[in-house]
Amino acid sequence: METETRLHVKIYDASHERYEVPIPTPIVKEKASSTHYHFVYTKYPFGFSVIRQSSGTVLFNSTVGGFIFSDQFIQMSALLSSSNVYGLGEHVAPLKLSLDWQLVPLFAVDSYGTPEGLNHNLYGTHPFYLNVEEDGQANGVLLLNSNAMEISLQPTPAITYRTLGGILDFYFFTGPTPDKVIQQYTEVVGRPHMPPYWALGFHLSRYGYNSLNATAAAVKRMIDADIPQDVQWNDIDAMHNHLDFTYDPKRFDGLPVFVDDLHKVGMRYLLIQDPGISNSQPAGSYPPYDDAVKMDVLIKNASGLPLVGKVWPGTTVFPDFFHPMAETYWEKNLKDFHDKVAFDGLLIDMNEISNFVNGSIHGCPNSTLEYPPYMPHIDGTHLYSRTICMTAKTNVSTQYNVHNLYGYSEAKVTMTALENVRKKRSIVISRSTFPGSGAHGSHWLGDNNSTWTDMSASISGILAMNMFGIPLVGADICGFHGNATVELCARWSALGAFYPLSFNHNTPSSVAQDPPSLGPAVVNASRTALLIRYSLLPTLYTLFHKAHVKGSTVVRPLFFEFPTDNNTWSIDTQFLWGRSLLITPVLQENASAVVGYFPRGRWFDFYTGDEVSLTSQNVSLKASIAHINLHVRGGHILVTQTPNRTTTATRVNPLGLVVALDVDGTANGSLFWDDGESLDTYEKGEYTLIEYKVEQTNLTCDIIKSGYNGTAALIIDRIHVFGLNDMTVQTVTVNGQKAVFLYNSSNGVLSVSPLKLPVDKVFVMKWMAT
Ligand code: NOJ
Repeated sequence: METETRLHVKIYDASHERYEVPIPTPIVKEKASSTHYHFVYTKYPFGFSVIRQSSGTVLFNSTVGGFIFSDQFIQMSALLSSSNVYGLGEHVAPLKLSLDWQLVPLFAVDSYGTPEGLNHNLYGTHPFYLNVEEDGQANGVLLLNSNAMEISLQPTPAITYRTLGGILDFYFFTGPTPDKVIQQYTEVVGRPHMPPYWALGFHLSRYGYNSLNATAAAVKRMIDADIPQDVQWNDIDAMHNHLDFTYDPKRFDGLPVFVDDLHKVGMRYLLIQDPGISNSQPAGSYPPYDDAVKMDVLIKNASGLPLVGKVWPGTTVFPDFFHPMAETYWEKNLKDFHDKVAFDGLLIDMNEISNFVNGSIHGCPNSTLEYPPYMPHIDGTHLYSRTICMTAKTNVSTQYNVHNLYGYSEAKVTMTALENVRKKRSIVISRSTFPGSGAHGSHWLGDNNSTWTDMSASISGILAMNMFGIPLVGADICGFHGNATVELCARWSALGAFYPLSFNHNTPSSVAQDPPSLGPAVVNASRTALLIRYSLLPTLYTLFHKAHVKGSTVVRPLFFEFPTDNNTWSIDTQFLWGRSLLITPVLQENASAVVGYFPRGRWFDFYTGDEVSLTSQNVSLKASIAHINLHVRGGHILVTQTPNRTTTATRVNPLGLVVALDVDGTANGSLFWDDGESLDTYEKGEYTLIEYKVEQTNLTCDIIKSGYNGTAALIIDRIHVFGLNDMTVQTVTVNGQKAVFLYNSSNGVLSVSPLKLPVDKVFVMKWMAT
C-alpha cells in the first residue's frame, strides 16, 4: 500500500531470482497510513481483490480463472469493474477497447504499415489500462512486465494476462478521476519530458527529398506560401549509403550551411537515426562501428559475438543501450556528427528492433527462448520474425526479456546524449516505446496511410499515448503510404494543427504532400489552422508544463473531464487540449458540417464567442474546408499570442486572453513561461508562472513565480470575455483607468483592446454592466 491511491502487488518466485523490468520506479519503505482502497488476499483459490473504499466497487478480482506461474508462461485473470477499458497499446483501434473476447498482443514490431485492430501488435508496448467505473470514478492498472504478452479482454467484464516471463508486477491507481489516474501512473513510470518551445511549432518532413536542393525547395515553398514552420527534417535518404551519423556528400553537399541558415531565421533541423550500425565499412573508416567494437557495446548473439542483422545500410550490428558504456559511445558519435551538422533533435526509428532478416543473418539457435512452449498471437510466425534473436544478450538480460525495452533504452540514452551535446532541451521522437518512455522523449504513430480511416484513427492513437504518459505525440499528417487527395490533406492539416506534435511526413513512392505542393485549398487550410495553433502555443506549452510537473495529459478525451456522462465514454472523434479547448475535426469526405457532442456546461465558439445553445447532446456544426471547429469551455481562460511564421518570431509578440465565463461567472487559467529551451528551467526556478482568474466582474492575476526575467518584455494587448449574456457593459476599467472596449450585446462578447499590460505585473480589469 504505497500511497493513499497506489497499491503495488508483486507476485514472484520467492526461491529463484527472475528477470524484472529495469525501469526506475519509486522505492517505498513505509506503508501508507490510510488508503482509498482495500486489498483482500485469498489463499484458496489463490488471488486478490482491490476494492474502492468509498463505493465498495471491486476494481480487480483475481480469484477467478485460476493462476499459472511457470518459467515461460504466466497467466492470471481478473474481473473488472466495468467494460469501459482504455489503453493497452500500441494498436490502431477505437479509444474504448472491445471486450468481445478480444485478443490484444503486446510485442514491439515493425509491421508493414499500421494494421488496424487490437489483434495486431505494433511498435510499442504499454501494459497499462484505464478503467472508468459505472459511477464515473476511474482506476488504472499497470502490469510492469516487458516479456512478449497477450491479453484477452472478455465481456464479463474481465481480463486475462498471459506473459512469457518475468514476474507479475502490478500497480493499481485509484484516481478517482481519469486525469488523476494518469498523474499517479506517471509518478511511477516517470513524468513526461518538458519539450522545447520550438518543438510545438510545425514540422515538415518527407522520406525521399533525395537532395538538399529538394529539401531547401520545400522550406522555400512554405515561406512563399506564408505557412508557419519551425522545423525541417531529413530522413535516411540524406545519409551517405544509409549510414548513421553521415550525410551524402554529393546530394546533400552544403547541409551544415543549410542548417545554420535555418537557425539564423529562427528555425530548427531534425534528423532520423536508426539503431542498426553498418559492420561492413572498410576497417578504420567508420567510427560508429569501430567505437562500438572497441567499447564492446554491441548486442551479442548466443555465442557471444555481435549479432548481425540487416537494415537499410546492409548488414548491421546493434548497440546495447543498457550497456554502461552505451551513453559514452552514443554521445561521442552524436557529438562528432553534431559538430558537422548542428541538428536540434532526432527521430529514432526502427527501434523495435526492426530487422530485414529474421533473427540474424545466421538465423537463431534452437532454444525455448526462440520457440517458447506457448506462442502469443502476435503478428509474425516467431518471436524473432523481423527482429533479432530472442537468445541475443544485452547487459541486462536476454532479448527474450528485454525486446520491448529497446526503444525505451535508446530514447533514454539519446536524450541524455543530446542534452549533453546541445546543452539545451531537445526532442527525441521514438518509434518504439514502453512505460516511462515519455520521460525521455516523444513518439509518432508510424507508417499510417493517406486514408480517411487512418486520419480518424490518429485521434485515439494520440489520446492513448497521452494516457501512457507520452503527451508529445503526432501522426504523419496527410498520411505516410499512398497519395493524399487535396480534400483529405486539407482536413488532415486542420486536425494535425491540433496534435501535440504537428508534422507532415510521407514516403518516397507517394506524391509530394507538403501543403504548397497540393495547392491552394491545402495551403489555406494549413495556414489558417497553424496560425491558430501558433496563437495558442502559450496555452499548449503551459499544458506541457503541467504534464511535466503533475503528469497530467496534454490532450484528453471528453470522458476525462465528464466521466459521469456516459455519452462521452466512447467518443474518439473529438478531443480536448487540457480542460478547456474542444476540437471537433471533420473526419468524413464531402462534408460541410460535423456533428460534435457538447457535455453539460458552457461552450463558446473560439472564433466568435457565440455560445453553443444546447448541451448534453450532439450538435451539428458548419465546417467549410478551411474551418476547424474549436470551442472554449466555460470557466476557463486561454492565453494566446499574436502568431508569426516561427515560434521564435511569435514568442516576442503581444499576448492576449480569451476568458470564457462559467455559469457562475468565474473562470481560471494559467501561463507558464521560460526561455523555451534551457535545461531544467522548472527545476532551477528559471520560469514565470501566472494564474488568471475571474471573480464576479473582476479579471486579475497572481504571479505565482517570477523567475524568468525575459517575461518582462511581453505585454497583454487584448482581452476577450465570452459569456456576458443578458447584460450591457457600460464601462471597463483596467487598473482603475477607463479602457477602450467593444461590447457585442447579441452574443455577450466583450473585447478590450488596445492594452499594454506588462505580463509579469498584477493587473485588475473590471467591467460594469447593467
Ligand atoms: C520507417 C519510418 O516509420 C518512416 O517514417 C521513415 O520514413 C522510414 N522508416 C525511412 O526512414
